[in-house]
Amino acid sequence: STVLILNGPNLNLLGVREPDIYGHTTLADIEDMCTQSAAEAGLSVRCVQSNHEGELIDAVHAARETTVGAIINAGAYTHTSLALHDALKSYDQPIIEVHLSNPHARESFRHLSYLSPVAAAVIAGAGASGYVHAVEILAEKLRAPTT
Ligand code: DQA
Repeated sequence: STVLILNGPNLNLLGVREPDIYGHTTLADIEDMCTQSAAEAGLSVRCVQSNHEGELIDAVHAARETTVGAIINAGAYTHTSLALHDALKSYDQPIIEVHLSNPHARESFRHLSYLSPVAAAVIAGAGASGYVHAVEILAEKLRAPTT
């Protein structure tokens, strides 16, 4: 079974972009950490990063039939993208929303999330390890009976 790890705009610059806020871990490091922790739970991962809203939506559509859950950090599209919200509504597997920083402790324009209404869980402010926790939460949800 495969889990989608979807990262949105500017997250390709992790490690160099505002490291005081987002840390020094690169996206490649995060993807490696997720791959390892997923493997421990018997899951594989598909990692996608895009700076383009439509490509994120395409990745969600492509994941509909081929993945059992998704971990998503949509970057700034979190706060703007009704289109991504709608795409995720068509995705019938559990979604974990992740943010490296805690958007609620930052500017008010980061307080609204279009993803949270469709997320089974939200992890914010835990830095890179938030992704690993997300994998663990997803694995736990996939093990649990759905009824
Ligand atoms: C972010 C928080 C967003 O507000 C911001 O636009 C990002 C990263 C985070 O991981 O903390 O790009 O999603």
